[in-house]
Amino acid sequence: MFNVDNFLHDEALPASAKWTGFPLYNFIGGHNDEDLIPIEKLEEASKKVILNHGHILGKYNYTGPLGYLPLRKFIIKKLLNGASMKCSEDEILVVSGSLQALDLVNETFLKQGDTVIIEEGSYGGVFSRLEKLGINIKGIPVEDDGMNINLLSECLEELKAINIVPRYVYTIPTIQNPTGTIMSKEKRIKLIELAKKYDVPIFEDDCYADLIWGEERPPSIRALDDSKRVIYCGSFSKSIAPGFRLGYLVADWPILSRVLPYKTDAGTGGLEQMVLSEFCENHFFDHLTKLNQKLKLKAITMCEALDKYFGNTVEYKKPIGGIYVWIKMPDGVDTSKLYNIALQEGVAINPGVEWSMDKKNKQKMRLCFANPTDKSIDEGVKKLAKVCKKEFGVPVSIANIN
Ligand SMILES: Cc1ncc(COP(=O)(O)O)c(C=O)c1O
Repeated sequence: MFNVDNFLHDEALPASAKWTGFPLYNFIGGHNDEDLIPIEKLEEASKKVILNHGHILGKYNYTGPLGYLPLRKFIIKKLLNGASMKCSEDEILVVSGSLQALDLVNETFLKQGDTVIIEEGSYGGVFSRLEKLGINIKGIPVEDDGMNINLLSECLEELKAINIVPRYVYTIPTIQNPTGTIMSKEKRIKLIELAKKYDVPIFEDDCYADLIWGEERPPSIRALDDSKRVIYCGSFSKSIAPGFRLGYLVADWPILSRVLPYKTDAGTGGLEQMVLSEFCENHFFDHLTKLNQKLKLKAITMCEALDKYFGNTVEYKKPIGGIYVWIKMPDGVDTSKLYNIALQEGVAINPGVEWSMDKKNKQKMRLCFANPTDKSIDEGVKKLAKVCKKEFGVPVSIANIN
């Protein structure tokens, strides 16, 4: 019998398991609201672009290596409108989801043994990527108004003392994943000052920036920087649909020209780019308003369910945007264990250790409220509370779960 292991290097780890479908109560990942996928408008846009421009799909990279020009033009408009950021067509690379932006930047900037600075709680996909590459990760705690800048300053100074220049400071400043916080303008400016002082690049991941309903967002870090050291990425996964696999990397040409050679997939899906560009040109901002209204209501439903079934045994901040609630569970609850048991009951949660530098802190968990219906949110949180009570004895006396 053929044994593939004989031909693989040690790094080629298998996938953890075969996929067996979505759980009944799906509170994980970065899914979107399925009812708000603008199907009719996407149908219209698809018909129009395939009839009028479909022939250009006959060429590889038909609008050049940076991506479909009308889409890049829309991204320029969107970034000016939302992130107060000016950029030109040749500073934008359309990528296959912002995950590809992370991979491209990592491939360009990092090699085993390098050091990067990130927020102490950060996107699980960032931890897994950096760990796989053998990178030393320094974590900076996040406060209500973003990264703790004093600790960042100390960290940079300590690294300097041992002759280490971090390859970048990665931040998700606008609706941080998982904490949901927004970095203040003052901190953004201080971060740039520090990056200049220690001469490090900043990698700004703004993939949730379109989903804000609580307050005005500050300008992007890249918009505030005059030293051309900020690499910026964003995504249509959260605003339209993760199934599109469309994101963008924005950087000045000296950086982008070094990243571009690593994009070896002959361009991001052409039809997706064309359809999205046609849709966005006419409907993006109206769609976003509707989406944010709905997400705001779903966030309320999630918080109400947490209060109803967990009472004051859990701590969380009410979301002002995004698709997640970041929750501190009662003492004694191990969310990694809870994850396994709850999954058997059809409830999927993201245990906090996957979103945190502190692998011992098992008390946190992240719940995504974007995909399930209001009814499922309520039922799923109730089920979770029951499972939690059975396994860990908490919540103790919440009448609603009996
Ligand atoms: C902070 C952050 N960056 C990047 C991504 C990747 O998103 P996508 O590749 O779908 O754009 C995610 C997904 O949840 C995320 O949370």
